[in-house]
Amino acid sequence: MAVPPWLLLTFTFFLTITTTHSTPSDDVVLLLTKIKPSLQGPTQNRILSSWNTSVPLCQWQGLKSVFTNGTQLICTPSSSPNWSDLSLSKNPALHLLSLQLPSANLSGNLPPELRDLSNLQSLYLSFNSIMGSIPLELGYSSSLQDIHFSYNLLNGSVPVSVWNLCDNNKLVSFRVHGNLLSGSIPKPGLPNASCANLTVLDFGRNLFTGVKRV
Ligand SMILES: *[C@@H]1O[C@H](CO)[C@@H](O)[C@H](O)[C@H]1NC(C)=O
Ligand SMILES: *[C@@H]1O[C@H](CO)[C@@H](O)[C@H](O)[C@H]1NC(C)=O
Ligand SMILES: *[C@@H]1O[C@H](CO)[C@@H](O)[C@H](O)[C@H]1NC(C)=O
Ligand SMILES: *[C@@H]1O[C@H](CO)[C@@H](O)[C@H](O)[C@H]1NC(C)=O
Ligand SMILES: *[C@@H]1O[C@H](CO)[C@@H](O)[C@H](O)[C@H]1NC(C)=O
Ligand SMILES: *[C@@H]1O[C@H](CO)[C@@H](O)[C@H](O)[C@H]1NC(C)=O
Ligand SMILES: *[C@@H]1O[C@H](CO)[C@@H](O)[C@H](O)[C@H]1NC(C)=O
Repeated sequence: MAVPPWLLLTFTFFLTITTTHSTPSDDVVLLLTKIKPSLQGPTQNRILSSWNTSVPLCQWQGLKSVFTNGTQLICTPSSSPNWSDLSLSKNPALHLLSLQLPSANLSGNLPPELRDLSNLQSLYLSFNSIMGSIPLELGYSSSLQDIHFSYNLLNGSVPVSVWNLCDNNKLVSFRVHGNLLSGSIPKPGLPNASCANLTVLDFGRNLFTGVKRV
């Protein structure tokens, strides 16, 4: 059976389109489809509205990125080519290194997909109105070192899985001061977790049981 020429043409055209427009980086897809909607909550957030593929990645607020080869993306404002480079968000080698949105008026929840940001080292989300629980998935993140959730409205118990972050001595700081967390403060689950690099652990001003309130 002969293939009609118009079909071949359509097919070739389709292939050309899909190969010239590379897909966005996995982390960018997560940021736009999961993390932004979850963190911002029911209303649009002014700061998070900068996370938009029609805005160059360097102008997305609160992010630091690194390439698979270890080079950090430098975003010097205005004059540098990186600042206005619209193709950066489509670079599959780009990974999120840190998410820094303190005092950003966030009123949503912590999305479990934070775990899937393979190179994410720090999460600075203090002084917001983030509600709900700390997802246990966070403890399975491959590179998280610094977690700052102080002064939010987080409730429920702290998942024991956070101590997994002590494996390979990654965890450096964990701050949840000033939330509505309850239950008991979890004990390290792994007998050999040394947490050798842990320097700051702040569980203060929550609703934990077995802790004297001052
Ligand atoms: C991204 O920005 C464009 C142009 O400002 C706007 O029309 C669009 O609605 C924005 N998309 C999202 C998802 O916010
Ligand atoms: C790493 O990759 C980025 C983006 O592809 C590139 O700009 C940079 O020059 C590379 N660095 C090294 C040391 O190869
Ligand atoms: C642009 O980013 C690359 C890494 O991708 C970095 O090596 C370079 O210094 C940056 N350029 C400027 C002018 O900031
Ligand atoms: C903070 O968010 C609330 C809605 O949750 C909104 O009414 C208020 O205008 C926002 N404030 C700022 C400074 O963006
Ligand atoms: C946490 O707060 C939410 C509302 O933000 C509520 O629905 C939920 O039941 C609370 N969970 C606990 C364990 O208190
Ligand atoms: C732990 O801290 C030591 C000393 O500061 C450092 O050499 C090591 O790389 C750290 N480990 C990790 C996994 O960051
Ligand atoms: C924990 O450490 C002890 C003694 O150092 C060792 O015998 C044991 O196999 C370790 N357990 C695990 C799960 O690594």
